Amino acid sequence: MNITPEQASELIQNRRSLYPTVYNDQPVDDAIVNTMLENANWAPTHRLTQPWRFTVFTGSGLEKLGNFQADLYRKKAEASGTFDTGKYEKLKQKPLQCSHIIAIGMKRDPKERVPEVEEVMATACAVQNMYLTASAYGVGGYWGTGGITYYEEAKPFFGLEPDDKLLGFFYLGMPKISKWPESKRDPIEEKVHWERV
Ligand SMILES: Cc1cc2nc3c(=O)[nH]c(=O)nc-3n(C[C@H](O)[C@H](O)[C@H](O)COP(=O)(O)O)c2cc1C
Repeated sequence: MNITPEQASELIQNRRSLYPTVYNDQPVDDAIVNTMLENANWAPTHRLTQPWRFTVFTGSGLEKLGNFQADLYRKKAEASGTFDTGKYEKLKQKPLQCSHIIAIGMKRDPKERVPEVEEVMATACAVQNMYLTASAYGVGGYWGTGGITYYEEAKPFFGLEPDDKLLGFFYLGMPKISKWPESKRDPIEEKVHWERV
């Protein structure tokens, strides 16, 4: 490998979530998005089931996604008497703040060769690869699981079947901020227990 362990650690520790409010109106190069997807495809996967599936929205595809999710939200929220105009408008408009949005799907192995949770975990590894790649290119992005993520009715729009899962959306845009954001974690020592003989 041409990168040093120190470079790998630097990338991992400087990966950040950047939100649409800090995106400018410049597009992310499709070539970078393709590299993100290619790297996602190299995630670990038990029995090589490769469960990750992605739908990429850009250009007028973003409007299509916004209309779909806002209308689906309205249909469900009106039926349960919880409709909120602000939420509807946010679902409709938020995609337009992005350069690309990647819908994240998990395709259930028809032979169920591994437990479902392992397919979700493998897909999460694929998303981490996308996150790292975006950060390496200085592209803003984050994984969001709000909105219609867990609506059963949303699945067909993303080519997913009832046994599959929609796991959220990866939002992408070029950052208008000059300083890469800070993040924080509690010390790893608080989360690890070593046993030595
Ligand atoms: C599975 C998953 C779901 C997430 N969903 C959301 C979300 O719905 N909304 C949001 O603002 N951030 C979401 N995030 C991003 C986290 O908020 C973010 O990783 C956290 O604030 C730490 O910031 P950092 O990624 O820059 O270190 C999600 C992250 C993961 C791993």
